[in-house]
Amino acid sequence: MASREQFSSRTGFIMAAAGSAIGLGNIWGFPTQTASNGGAAFVLVYFVMAFCLAYPALMAELIIGRHARANAVTALQLISTGPRTRALGTGVGMFGVVVASLILSFYAIVAGWMLAYFMSPIAEFLGWNTASQWLIDSSLTRNLSAMALFMVLTVSIISQGITNGIEKWSTRLMPLLLLLLVALIIHVLQQPGAQEGLEVYLLPDINRINPSLVLNALGQAFFSLSLGVGTMLIYGSYLNRDSNLPRLGVMVTLVDSGIAFIAGLLIVPAVYVAQAYGAVIFNDDGSLVAGPQLIFQVLPTLFDSMEGLIGPLVALAFFLLMSIASLTSSISMLEVPVALTTEKYGLARPKATILIGILITAASTIILLNFDQLFEAVIAFTTVYSQPLLGALLCVFVGWIWHRDNLLSEIKQGDPNIESTLFWKIWPSYVRIVCPLLILATFIQSLVN
Ligand code: PHE
Repeated sequence: MASREQFSSRTGFIMAAAGSAIGLGNIWGFPTQTASNGGAAFVLVYFVMAFCLAYPALMAELIIGRHARANAVTALQLISTGPRTRALGTGVGMFGVVVASLILSFYAIVAGWMLAYFMSPIAEFLGWNTASQWLIDSSLTRNLSAMALFMVLTVSIISQGITNGIEKWSTRLMPLLLLLLVALIIHVLQQPGAQEGLEVYLLPDINRINPSLVLNALGQAFFSLSLGVGTMLIYGSYLNRDSNLPRLGVMVTLVDSGIAFIAGLLIVPAVYVAQAYGAVIFNDDGSLVAGPQLIFQVLPTLFDSMEGLIGPLVALAFFLLMSIASLTSSISMLEVPVALTTEKYGLARPKATILIGILITAASTIILLNFDQLFEAVIAFTTVYSQPLLGALLCVFVGWIWHRDNLLSEIKQGDPNIESTLFWKIWPSYVRIVCPLLILATFIQSLVN
């Protein structure tokens, strides 16, 4: 095999993995799920899910990836022990690649909207009022063009490879993301109504904890940590041998849930500030608006009501934040099918990237043309069902199929004292039994309900 690219440093990996994890799931999904699921009660359940179920699954992916130094399919084939487990590995890996591509196909649509809303104030500054309006009016041509533009950006980063593409752009964009987030929070918390939003976000309503809340929290945690579909596996495969995996995994989990939590300090208060400015923020059934309406109607009402240049500037910063978060995640989704085609079928990276980019753009187009039937359905199929199931299967692979000694020697390379750590005492049996069972139980219970 030709020499394989690697992340050039630990920071590079953390930026890339955090970039993948931090996305629309954190900045939009988490705060709105929290607000509509009993406030801090959801935050509580989410953190339990993130550290008890998602972190062990993240570790499973990172370890398989770094051991095999290959795409998900090849990696699972490598650690399988016979024809049956090999077939299972091929199936799980392939299914992951399909789910990652499908996630990108709906993600690119939403990210396209973010780009359009980001460009609209710029067009306004330039005096291009018709263009500025076109960008924020929902039309099929706007949706198709914005999605295609976002796919072009994603493809151009991934075609540059690991260090010059993924790592370079994540390292540039993630600090900017944090800066924008903090600046926006400071601004919003000073507005009238913010206090009420903070209370809704932070005060727990324990009565709201029920099986469907738990499943939502589980799905959200798996989506947020980019699990199940081989993203973290492939990022792990670009790590060098002496990196300390358990520690890197904890850092990524902490940064990801931390940013989700902080994003809630922006979004939920912002919704209540918008109400103070006259926006309608509750649905007919009394629940808080959460979907596209929140981002593309309620928040713009807030921006429009700000005086002079402040409104367009805040809108610009907000949608830039959303666009950056989307881009550092979408590149990690595209890397999954690209790594498979370059490694297994020998295609050159630029060619593979463009080819797969076109296929995914076609899938997004089909979704846009049949929006009402497909959009929600694809999201539910990929994120609510497939991601946790695939995550559980990857745990089964590490726990049952891969030999414990091999596992130990893999982790030992970056952490020689691993055997005496709490991690090694708990994690192997945890990933073997507790994780798959709990994921399955949560799943079955919600199906029964
Ligand atoms: N974690 C990303 C987010 O929160 C989404 C994602 C899912 C990225 C699956 C890669 C793979 O938006």
